[in-house]
Amino acid sequence: MAKILFVLGLILVSTTASYINVMNDTFNDLSNWLENVMPGADSGNNEWEYYTDSPNNIFIAQVNGQNALVLRALQQNYQGYNYTSGKVSSVRPWGPYGFFNIKAIVPKGNGLWPAIWLLPPNSKSIYGSWAACGEIDIMEAICTETAGRSTLHFGGQWPNNAQYPEAPKNQFPFTADWSNPHWYGVDWQPNYINFWYDAQIVNGQITGGTLINSISSSNWYSLNSNGQRYPGNAPFNQPFGIILNLAIGGSWPCSVPGCCSNIAVPAQMTIFNVQVWENAQSEDQI
Ligand SMILES: *[C@@H]1O[C@H](CO)[C@@H](O)[C@H](O)[C@H]1NC(C)=O
Ligand SMILES: *[C@@H]1O[C@H](CO)[C@@H](O)[C@H](O)[C@H]1NC(C)=O
Repeated sequence: MAKILFVLGLILVSTTASYINVMNDTFNDLSNWLENVMPGADSGNNEWEYYTDSPNNIFIAQVNGQNALVLRALQQNYQGYNYTSGKVSSVRPWGPYGFFNIKAIVPKGNGLWPAIWLLPPNSKSIYGSWAACGEIDIMEAICTETAGRSTLHFGGQWPNNAQYPEAPKNQFPFTADWSNPHWYGVDWQPNYINFWYDAQIVNGQITGGTLINSISSSNWYSLNSNGQRYPGNAPFNQPFGIILNLAIGGSWPCSVPGCCSNIAVPAQMTIFNVQVWENAQSEDQI
């Protein structure tokens, strides 16, 4: 009897994920980040900006008394483009699995498309290129829409890609406060992916905040070139990198009437903290 209770206790403990901090970037420098220099045409989204590594577009500043990474979009003629902006990706990929939490002030306004997201390095994995490789969009926001969005992309290689939830069900089920810093997070696990607003890890546990959406692994898949599904929970069982960017224009925002006129530049996304937490390799796994 004592032994049975002991085993039950271990099972109960093992059902609660626990997290260990492996990155806590408060932007003393940009050593964890690569500045992605590229024309908007290479984004795959018909974006209107050129991403530069200029200190006018990507820089560290003191904001609210803290260091922050600022990605600033400007009206500027550059390489045939009318706007410049900033995009960074993590030097190394992380995971698979864990809790990714980013504290940022996200701008709203015409033509703006700020994003906090995860993608395998070079947009490909053992499953192929986008979207067979998967994409985890923690937070995207367009134009003056009050809703933010959290979305998974997966399925076959473009144009056979799929997403979940479909729009507009990928919208936050509440009105976010865009004028102040908030935490945008994802709890990425083998059996589910949960998106969080204003949650934090305290004593190894997800604490506070609002659950935006909980997605079971039964909703995602990755297809090989014959259209057959890979086994397991592909494509979300490979390492992904973190990407932070502020796009101007692009197919999606410019499909919204009025969004891409009177572009609201200059604009900036301000990122105070990027945290990566791995699942604790617990003694309670049996
Ligand atoms: C992250 O760094 C900040 C600033 O140094 C500190 O206040 C905070 O406690 C750190 N968090 C973790 C999880 O280490
Ligand atoms: C820049 O603006 C001009 C004038 O509106 C437009 O014709 C051109 O396509 C724009 N360039 C890009 C790269 O968006």
